[in-house]
Amino acid sequence: MCGIVGFVGNKKAAPVLLDGLERLEYRGYDSAGISVIENGKFKIEKTVERIKNLKDITNNGEDITGTIGIGHTRWATHGAPSFENAHPHISANGKITVVHNGIIENYMDIKSELIADGFKFVSETDTEVIAHLIQKYYNGDMFDAIKKAVDRLEGSYALGIISLDKPDTLFAVRHFSPLIVGLGPDGNYIGSDVTALIKYTKNAVYIEDGEIAVLTADSAKFYNKDGKEIKKEVSVINWSIDAAEKGGYDHFMMKEIMEEPEALRKTIEPRIKNGEIYFEGLKLSKDKIKHIKRIVITACGSAYHTGICAKYMFEELLRIPVDVDLASEFRYRNPIIDNESLVIIISQSGETADTLAALKEAKARGAHILSIVNVVGSSIAKASDDVIYTWAGPEIAVATTKGYTTQLAVLYMFGIYAAKIKESADNKLLGELVSELSNLNKKVEEVLELKPKLSDLAKKFCQEQQVFFIGRNMDYATAMEGSLKLKEISYIGSEAYAAGELKHGTISLIEPGRLVVALNCYEDLSDKLMSNIKEVVSRGAFVLATAFTGNEEIKKYANEVIYLPKVHPLLLSAVEIIPLQIFAYYISLHKGCDIDKPRNLAKSVTVE
Ligand code: AGP
Repeated sequence: MCGIVGFVGNKKAAPVLLDGLERLEYRGYDSAGISVIENGKFKIEKTVERIKNLKDITNNGEDITGTIGIGHTRWATHGAPSFENAHPHISANGKITVVHNGIIENYMDIKSELIADGFKFVSETDTEVIAHLIQKYYNGDMFDAIKKAVDRLEGSYALGIISLDKPDTLFAVRHFSPLIVGLGPDGNYIGSDVTALIKYTKNAVYIEDGEIAVLTADSAKFYNKDGKEIKKEVSVINWSIDAAEKGGYDHFMMKEIMEEPEALRKTIEPRIKNGEIYFEGLKLSKDKIKHIKRIVITACGSAYHTGICAKYMFEELLRIPVDVDLASEFRYRNPIIDNESLVIIISQSGETADTLAALKEAKARGAHILSIVNVVGSSIAKASDDVIYTWAGPEIAVATTKGYTTQLAVLYMFGIYAAKIKESADNKLLGELVSELSNLNKKVEEVLELKPKLSDLAKKFCQEQQVFFIGRNMDYATAMEGSLKLKEISYIGSEAYAAGELKHGTISLIEPGRLVVALNCYEDLSDKLMSNIKEVVSRGAFVLATAFTGNEEIKKYANEVIYLPKVHPLLLSAVEIIPLQIFAYYISLHKGCDIDKPRNLAKSVTVE
């Protein structure tokens, strides 16, 4: 999704903007641009290629000397990716430039009004109306004009605004789209997320909906939606710049896969005390947990898949119904939530628009909101009653890996914690699960050693057109995520099927040589899965199976087996997904795809 950056200070702005935009590349974009005030004029550069192109044409930004500017990566919503539609957008009189992340829902009405006023539009974007609207309201006071303009906007926006009449001031506004201000020793910054800022400062101010930031080289002032100055808390970002760089790996995705054992350790270890799960500062009382009658989990994409894994686990341990809903559907179907329901929201970025909207819907219906989030200070974290952080560090690759496994870890811990309080599961089993959890990172470490084998297998299958993933119970939940991983980065058509469903349609798609990834670690249903494997093998499929070390039987039927260290079935997905992530990575690598930034996808989906 779109990313915005901005800088005002005592050094050249363009190198800072380009560096920030490069760090936001991972969010997904199709064009980019910067606007810097230089000698009383705007210097605007845009590209429909990569940020590198902007760097090439500006000598890494060094050829532009101005010390105030804004920049943008655009993920097209209104109008195709083009030079005209790329941000920054400029007001008709050429005095104001604007970058925008979000969607202005009433832009057509405003556009008609501005056209009637004589404004000429050069782009198809919703953003251009903002530049003209600020010009329309400008009467010598930029703050006042911005305030009047944003009061007219409906939808979502994070804005960076600079003007020739106030060339020392960077304005920023937020409404439902992420925006952070960084306070640095040599100037002040804005960014869509902390990765754009951490090279320069660790002091961040999280801007809330409706707030306006007014920044100069040596001052930062903040105003609420009524235009009243407010004091804001300065938070210290605890991510290091190394964590947001590739550190010797060719791709962020592989770096992040290799970080999974450590991310799991950081997420799990501090929450186990004397063999029991403990969550610091949880507002959800033990009494409330005791009386929860139903859990509703809502999320998107991979985070949704962790919810499905949790459903299997929670229903087993808590013996209450658990519903897992796609956040993009949740608020459009009158969900049944009451004060005996707990709503769990899962999001790596904490900014996913659909998930945030589902959260608000559930909150409005009176539910207690417990979120599982990776990004501290993100919109979802702030809007929740309780947050349990996945301490995975920054995840840059679009395909989530350590985000997924650490979300699972938190869900596993919460399941055990709640079962203990509800006294709904055998204490011995809960003890075993806690002890397995504390070893999960070591098991994942073992699985990482399968990289060479998985790379060889991927070489063999990288030209496939269609792949099936099958499994039962927890293996089925993992199959969904394995299939998503493969298709999102390799563009190979892939479907996950509950193995028992094959006969209800999909088996007609099996033909000689078709790759079927059969997940076979859920041992209670291994015999049944074996029958499903036989069904596809007899129709010519090539079966790549997973199994626990020691399972010799599977070799009789599957063409290749990936052996994994044994883990409790309720914790299975955190280990079994690792080879599928690595397999997807290598398939994409051997195919020559853009692994970290697959086409059309965005890391943080901040529009509905
Ligand atoms: C997974 O690899 C995807 N990139 C995507 O499905 C992602 O999990 C989804 O968009 C949700 O993102 P979130 O966790 O940041 O809310």
